[in-house]
Amino acid sequence: MNLFDVQIDRTKSGCEKWDKYKNQDVIPMWVADMDFKSPQAIIDALTHRVEHGVFGYTGIDKDTNKAVIDFIQRHYNWRVKPEWIVWLPGVVSGMNITCKAIDTQDVIINTPIYPHFVKAPNNANLNLIKVPLVEKNSRWTIDFDAFEKAINPTCKLFLFCNPYNPGGTVFTKEELEKISKICVKHDLIICSDEIHADLILNPQVKHIPIASLNEEIAKRSITLLAPSKTFNIAGLQSSYAIIPDVTLRKSFKRAMAGFPGETNLLAITATKAAYTSCDEWLEALRVYLKENLNLVQEFVKKHPKLKLLNQDATFLSWIDVSALNLENPYEYFLKYGVGLSEGEPFGDKNFLRLNFGTTKVLLKEGLLRIEKALKNLE
Ligand SMILES: Cc1ncc(COP(=O)(O)O)c(C=O)c1O
Repeated sequence: MNLFDVQIDRTKSGCEKWDKYKNQDVIPMWVADMDFKSPQAIIDALTHRVEHGVFGYTGIDKDTNKAVIDFIQRHYNWRVKPEWIVWLPGVVSGMNITCKAIDTQDVIINTPIYPHFVKAPNNANLNLIKVPLVEKNSRWTIDFDAFEKAINPTCKLFLFCNPYNPGGTVFTKEELEKISKICVKHDLIICSDEIHADLILNPQVKHIPIASLNEEIAKRSITLLAPSKTFNIAGLQSSYAIIPDVTLRKSFKRAMAGFPGETNLLAITATKAAYTSCDEWLEALRVYLKENLNLVQEFVKKHPKLKLLNQDATFLSWIDVSALNLENPYEYFLKYGVGLSEGEPFGDKNFLRLNFGTTKVLLKEGLLRIEKALKNLE
């Protein structure tokens, strides 16, 4: 049996995803975590650490930093120096710290987008400049002319998402070079949320950390990464920023001073195991998720009123349901027992986001329920 076919009961485990529909016949396909068990190496490392029994103040050890550096080198051919790493309890914290650290009045983002890209600038009382993604060759991408035109002199920060959530775009080298040139030309700091980097499902496509392109972009970059999506350990709160420029790094650290920064001992333990012993598991996960994506894509093809552009990454599909003319698409499908993510918080109420990071059995059942809901509209 495939490891990822094992159905694990996540109820009674404080699980946000399943608790939302407690005691209801609803398949949760919303928040971005997966229903899979983490790799055994992580579970073993955590068990071993817990059995030690002493949980005092814990710092980041050299081995953990090395595990991060080697993982990034191995997977993305980017050589990170240990002093560039700033540990964080979450990527969202990193986005909020960035918005406080950078001297800017406006923040430029693309839309629709993961809601914290809007919330973080709001929390720091910054104005938002929103540049909608465009459809090109059946794929979501940036309209670079519109993007450049939207930048004004009081905007010094671009909050970028690559791979993109929602939409699953992995930006190409050429696209990243365009972004890099625009950031340099307009003196923008780029905060690049690359939390989904490891979840590339198309073997023809590679994730390129934008900071790895050249020195010029590296020195104006804050890259946010984490093992949380990849190894399904979001509840452990492990993430980090990579900030090559010393002055930018100082500003970032100043903005986080006094807050519950860094991470915690179980997160450190899990991260070290994830980055040193789980490449094979990750490879198998990608294969399984790709098969799931195929199921979703085939399903959408069968239903002409649904639309899904090509995606190369993430376990999240951004489905256009506008042709159904529903007052509230989320509520409609919920009545049929599927709990999808509403499009509105991402910036488009005509879309629903479907999380296919689950067993094939559950995914197929979810798709069957959606099919039934669609039939009843005919
Ligand atoms: C693009 C993106 N950034 C950040 C996060 C959340 O990161 P964290 O849990 O580390 O704060 C998510 C979770 O869905 C995400 O999709």
